[in-house]
Amino acid sequence: MPKTKKRTASSIADHDGRDSTGRPPVTSAYSTRSGTMLQGRVEDALKHRVLRSKRGLVNLVFTSPPFPLIRKKKYGNRVGEDYLSWLRDLAPKLTELLADDGSIVIEIGNAWEPGSPTMSTLPLRALLAFQEAAGLQLCQHMICHNTARLPGPAEWVTVRRIRLKDSYTHVWWMAKTAFPKADNRRVLLPYSAEMKDLLRRRTYNAGERPSEHIVGEKSFLTDNGGAISASLLEFDEPASRVPIDVQKVANTRHEAEYVRYCKSLGIPPHPARMQPQLAAFFISFLTSPGDTVIDPFAGSNTTGWVAEQMGRQWLSVEASADYVLGSKMRFQ
Ligand SMILES: C[S@@+](CC[C@H](N)C(=O)[O-])C[C@H]1O[C@@H](n2cnc3c(N)ncnc32)[C@H](O)[C@@H]1O
Repeated sequence: MPKTKKRTASSIADHDGRDSTGRPPVTSAYSTRSGTMLQGRVEDALKHRVLRSKRGLVNLVFTSPPFPLIRKKKYGNRVGEDYLSWLRDLAPKLTELLADDGSIVIEIGNAWEPGSPTMSTLPLRALLAFQEAAGLQLCQHMICHNTARLPGPAEWVTVRRIRLKDSYTHVWWMAKTAFPKADNRRVLLPYSAEMKDLLRRRTYNAGERPSEHIVGEKSFLTDNGGAISASLLEFDEPASRVPIDVQKVANTRHEAEYVRYCKSLGIPPHPARMQPQLAAFFISFLTSPGDTVIDPFAGSNTTGWVAEQMGRQWLSVEASADYVLGSKMRFQ
């Protein structure tokens, strides 16, 4: 695992402009062999020399923005129309960073109306607002199903038992063209035992299926190294649902160590970390080694950490000093 470089006077002073208190709005918090973590708001970071130099060169913007919640969380979520107009404003600026064949992938969870067992449409409107404001194509809408999620919203799901557990997030893959760089052979699922058996036997029942599909004599005899992933993403158990390359990166013990580290420093572990496997999936699917991945709302820097392991260049931005400090552990 690469070591983080020491935070030097020059890296701290590496910023554009200062706020009214004289503090730089954006600072370079730490750098590794393959990436840099900027601390500050993305609105300011977009004017920073490091991000400006990436315009038109980024292969993947991968992020989970501060989604609109019922109650404000510590990391300062905006609500309602305010949230939408903020995202609308950011969308073209983040898109400017993209290479012509680059992609933007946004993960966003569901939100519920305060005091009511009904869902807010705000997360979906936010995705639409982002896509429209940036003039992006929607390449694919995926669902990330997290089976390990605790039942909620508690009042409707576990107390009154009138709703089902909210267990997935929306993942929108967008790009400037309908044909951004992508290769589903880089996110192949392990073959099932039946398929492996079939490949060994080299015989099966060809012909018409009840669905009226015609299965040819040799359709299933080519070993492609694995099965094609579905747009329903699941990274818990069983491992047969997790792409082979993604399994190499996933490391749940690391997450426990991250939490312990934050507690030892007396800082809060990030409460809404994404599954590292989700970042690994899109980095593998949409980029090649050496490509550049940016996360403008990096939190505990899951994206940068996974990108580093996968041999990609990365750049992350996070507004909270505590989350930046905690994220440094990932590279030690
Ligand atoms: C959903 S969390 C991201 C979690 C992250 N994917 C992880 O795995 O840890 C969103 C993050 O955006 C940060 N944030 C909110 N507003 C921001 C802004 N204007 N600029 C940069 N970061 C911001 C929050 O502090 C929060 O950590």
